[in-house]
Amino acid sequence: MVTNPTGTRQVRRKILSALNYNCQPVLKMTPDFEIPMRVLGIESSCDETAVAVYDGAQGLLAHALHSQVALHAPHGGVVPELASRDHVRKLLPLVREVLNEAGAAPESIDGLAYTAGPGLMGALLVGATFAQSLALAWNRPCVGVHHMEGHLLAPWLEPHAPDFPVLALLVSGGHTLLVAVEGVGDYRLLGESIDDAAGEAFDKVAKLLGLPYPGGPALAALAETGAPDRFHFPRPMLDRPGLDFSFSGLKTAVLYAVREAQAEAPLDDRLRADLARGFEEAAVAVLAEKCRRALAQTGLRRLVVAGGVGANRRLRAALLQMGASLGVEVFYPRSAFCTDNGAMIALAGYHRLRAGERGAGAVRARWPIDGLRPPGQQTG
Ligand code: KG4
Ligand code: ZN
Repeated sequence: MVTNPTGTRQVRRKILSALNYNCQPVLKMTPDFEIPMRVLGIESSCDETAVAVYDGAQGLLAHALHSQVALHAPHGGVVPELASRDHVRKLLPLVREVLNEAGAAPESIDGLAYTAGPGLMGALLVGATFAQSLALAWNRPCVGVHHMEGHLLAPWLEPHAPDFPVLALLVSGGHTLLVAVEGVGDYRLLGESIDDAAGEAFDKVAKLLGLPYPGGPALAALAETGAPDRFHFPRPMLDRPGLDFSFSGLKTAVLYAVREAQAEAPLDDRLRADLARGFEEAAVAVLAEKCRRALAQTGLRRLVVAGGVGANRRLRAALLQMGASLGVEVFYPRSAFCTDNGAMIALAGYHRLRAGERGAGAVRARWPIDGLRPPGQQTG
């Protein structure tokens, strides 16, 4: 899978020597017929390094995350090369931390899972190389998983998880997807953003308002103090049928409002908060209405919401309210499992390893979710 074999060998050697392994399978062998039940998950697709241990019998045993916010903040956004280097620095300490916290010896790990895409190419390669090296050293199977499948399955990390089928709204920094989900790996894409993803729109509008990276949470916090009705921004794509989204027009509408206001006077805190609130109201209204339509169209009675924007309080409240009015049950993971985390990758990997998948294939910057197949049926 790796496009840079020399670099990969070097990284492997470094990891193995740091772990005091000399390429010997020193730990318990997993015979082919044994189902891997305890999975170490590794997430490194963007600006968070995250590791977790998920156990099929006991659930999530431990998870740890290192955020690169401080690293990228001076640059106003994610710098891919810095992200890759930081993943290299942080993965090993995080693995040690979660194994320790889980009380899990390395030999109790039955398989490894890493994010194989979509995401930043260099960052993905670091996680893939690291996971495959550990798998080699520990003589364990390894599988590359889809980042958005990880997000989609995050609600099943919680004690009150839904039965299938469900409608999934996945709202992250790179994707806005509505998916009909029959089961793990059985996904029918109903709608997606034709331009900016929801999280990307939050981030760009935050930048317009002078907020620091990462913009989404900062914008949401500012919007808390804003007036809901001072700015009424357009609700894109609600005037036409279909379940696709578009957020770039909404972002442009905020830009014009900012320019208009700035022509009068510099933006003050009140105005910025009201603009943030106006934007958030419009974005949430669009997401909620598209969910309502998708539920009506599919007849599904359960909605799961995940991805970074799923941590947004106003969105959570709006969807819960909509669900209550329709008799639809709405499920979220806790906020820490809406944003990127290792637990969701461990869980997705658990399903795939358990079914016998051993796909340590190429990492992919782009990877449509509806190209996935149920565990055990995935090829490449
Ligand atoms: O899922 P995620 O952590 O990473 C990706 O896979 O992209 O999502 C990150 C996105 C960012 O755009 C971030 O600004 C947004 O989620 N986000 C939020 C909130 N928390 C994170 N957007 C709105 N409100 C929040 N509370
Ligand atoms: Zn994500």
